[in-house]
Amino acid sequence: MHRKTRFNPRPLAVALTLVSGVASAGVLARDPYLQKVGPDTALVAFRLAANCSPEVRYGVGAVSEVARSEASGRVHAVVLTGLKPATEYSYEVSACGLKTPVKRFTTAPEPGTRRVHFAAVGDFGTGGSDQKLVAADMLARKPELFVALGDNAYPDGTEADFQDHLFAPMAALLAEVPLFASPGNHEYVTDQGQPYLDNLYMPTNNPAGSERYFSFDWGHVHFVSLDSNCAIGLSSAERCSLADQKAWLQTDLAGTTQPWKVVFFHHPPWSSGEHGSQLTMRRQFGPLFEKYGVDLVLTGHDHNYERSKLMQGDGVASSGGIPYLVVGGGGAALRAFSVGQPSWSQVRDNKAHGFLDVEVVEGVLTAKLITTDEKVLDSFTLRKDLPPVEQPPPADALSVTVEGERGVAPHRALFRAATSSDVPVTWDFGDGGSAEGMTAEHTYAKAGQYTVTATAAFGAVTRTATSVVTVSAASGGETGGGTDAGPPSTGTPDDRPSPPTTGTPSTDDEGGSGGGCAAGPTAALLPAAGLLVAGLLRRRRASQRP
Ligand SMILES: [Fe+2]
Repeated sequence: MHRKTRFNPRPLAVALTLVSGVASAGVLARDPYLQKVGPDTALVAFRLAANCSPEVRYGVGAVSEVARSEASGRVHAVVLTGLKPATEYSYEVSACGLKTPVKRFTTAPEPGTRRVHFAAVGDFGTGGSDQKLVAADMLARKPELFVALGDNAYPDGTEADFQDHLFAPMAALLAEVPLFASPGNHEYVTDQGQPYLDNLYMPTNNPAGSERYFSFDWGHVHFVSLDSNCAIGLSSAERCSLADQKAWLQTDLAGTTQPWKVVFFHHPPWSSGEHGSQLTMRRQFGPLFEKYGVDLVLTGHDHNYERSKLMQGDGVASSGGIPYLVVGGGGAALRAFSVGQPSWSQVRDNKAHGFLDVEVVEGVLTAKLITTDEKVLDSFTLRKDLPPVEQPPPADALSVTVEGERGVAPHRALFRAATSSDVPVTWDFGDGGSAEGMTAEHTYAKAGQYTVTATAAFGAVTRTATSVVTVSAASGGETGGGTDAGPPSTGTPDDRPSPPTTGTPSTDDEGGSGGGCAAGPTAALLPAAGLLVAGLLRRRRASQRP
């Protein structure tokens, strides 16, 4: 799947030099880095300094699980599966009799989860001090994922550039924060980005199975990474085409159900930096962004920070619109702007390195440009209305319904339990009686107020639910009227005529016109409509008498 065969392992002595000062020195030629982390999976990639059979030990808390690499040689990518979403895992790599320090990462939340924290920056891959400062600041904030905007490995995107200018200087960050990267023009210098493909493990959810452009969900944010190099003609047709990428993007954006959509790539549609606006990206992809409600576009290429106003087409939107950002201060030397600040440019700066820290909570996206001197250079908020979340019932839910909450003794009531899983239910009727089963029927002999308790055991967890049944005396009781009956539409068990042995008052409508009749079980539980019909019948019979 991944074209790793082009990797030319370095001599061991060189490899050891690469990791000098790193805790895993002597074990790995490249420290572990996290790729393709999802709700239940993660890929741990690393490179050995010598040939042996490595394994990744991992777990929640203790590293009690083991996943062995199936690869031979020194290039390894171990996939962890069966993980729990939004859960912190510890892991270490064990190889050649040694092991790396324990690192930690958090799996993606379930798609749709309305809380996401990510970081984004481009143009960092120098191996210099500014890149390391930005990476350290990013790690200190511990975003859930790192979105890289291209020019990840200067100057030419070679194997050595990736090692020396991406993996070595950002090792601590990449070991604990999963990287999702777009290719920049400097990655395309070498074989149209082939080392980028060889060194990174990106999603391949497009018809070409290409890692050059892809999408994924993280919580309630749909992320799309485009290959702007391909789009502006830097790729040969058999490797990548603008038409294929556009067709895929349209299908992808039309198909997502996540409320937030963030698209990132390298060449900026709007920029007043050294390179300026990339009009092919604006005009080929902007209409799709607008049609499908993209909320935010993140780019790099120019070595500065710039945020546009809300844009539509070739100008500022009269309503709606998309903010386009250049976040190109990741480590490369900052550069002068090419022109004075245009009217479409909301904020711009070329004095500070820094990264964009973004939190998306429910319908609010808050982004801050955090500089290496710990200042917030820019901050903005996007808002949208989200529908209420439908809460699934808890796994151990229990509820009860009662037919016949009120009645006259002897009063019979029917009970039903509803549980979220098939578990035994026991009933305590509150008068000493009990039963088992999802439904139960019980007759109360005496007047009183009874608390009925249903109990269900969900493994080690026990849940109870209660209801109250009120029973009145057979005659001269405190209730007795039709208004004490249950809801007319439910049809309580006591709608039926009373058993003859109960000695209830007569139900004869002629002789039972006194108050005692109304208090009888039948009358007491007659629906209101039934009482009305009974009254009409009484009047009709009376009028038919001579
Ligand atoms: Fe660039």
